[in-house]
Amino acid sequence: MARKIAFINYKGGVGKTSLIVNTAACLAKLGKRVLLCDLDTQSNASIWLLRLERWNTINATGTGSVYSLFDPGAARLSDIVVRDVVQDKGGEPLLPGLDLAPTAFNLVDLENEYIGDPRKPAYLVFQEQLAEIEHNYDFILFDCPPNILRASQCGVFSANEIYVPSNPDALSLIGFTLLVEKLQKFHQLSASFRTAAMGRPAQVEGIIFNAIKTGVDIEVPKMRMQLRLNQFKTAKRAGKGARIFDSIVRDAMVVRRAVTLGLPVLLIGGDPDEPAAGSNVVTDYRQVASELIRHEPV
Ligand SMILES: Nc1ncnc2c1ncn2[C@@H]1O[C@H](COP(=O)(O)OP(=O)(O)O)[C@@H](O)[C@H]1O
Ligand SMILES: [Mg+2]
Repeated sequence: MARKIAFINYKGGVGKTSLIVNTAACLAKLGKRVLLCDLDTQSNASIWLLRLERWNTINATGTGSVYSLFDPGAARLSDIVVRDVVQDKGGEPLLPGLDLAPTAFNLVDLENEYIGDPRKPAYLVFQEQLAEIEHNYDFILFDCPPNILRASQCGVFSANEIYVPSNPDALSLIGFTLLVEKLQKFHQLSASFRTAAMGRPAQVEGIIFNAIKTGVDIEVPKMRMQLRLNQFKTAKRAGKGARIFDSIVRDAMVVRRAVTLGLPVLLIGGDPDEPAAGSNVVTDYRQVASELIRHEPV
């Protein structure tokens, strides 16, 4: 069964998208079948992996984007998935096993214009369509915006695990705290729509520190985060085995450059099996991916 995982924090710009794209790429490189669902209307993950030209085609018409799932009959999730999304300019797959459910700017309409059936909220529509294809995957990852509004709810409702990308600052801690509060509310609201087959409602299972600059000591922010996490665990508002990941991702220029190149950092600079010698940010992402594989919720 696929592990379904949302990356979310109530703070923007902490590196959710960078972390999820690069971790997904490492998982695919390890031979895992991965589906990345872009649930952020900003479409950063989609633009990154499809590159602008292919994404523009989707954005211009809205056809093939996540929003079309909610337009009854327009498309199903299985129709919009872009298989082996990372390709070279000639269309040859560069990273087989990494698929994308792309989004476009029209996803914002889900929050306002969309009038669904109150007996069938958008997150249930999404979850049912995901259930049709999830057997094809080992990992299904949801890139969420920094909120739990409708688009994000699709990921949070379908997922069984949540990981919180964080920077070593007070705002990330606030974002995490707010997330846990909103999460409990959403789980209460959506409880009657859950079935046993869906597994447990997603709780925070881990915190991942991202974009750590050289020479910055993260012990104090880490300790504060640990204290907060412990409080939530005691109150049963976070997973029993939730922990701060040992792997941390350093701040590296190449992460910002990767977006322009339209590639996960793993594929930048030659042979993906042989990244530049020594320790670099690719090593960090690989470690996050391995730690994620090892860290099954208890
Ligand atoms: N490890 C990193 N090193 C350097 N820059 C990073 C790193 N992770 C993210 N960034 C940069 O930080 C900004 C926000 O990252 P992003 O992944 O879009 O965050 P979010 O999805 O949380 O809004 C982007 O410009 C991104 O390139
Ligand atoms: Mg993002």
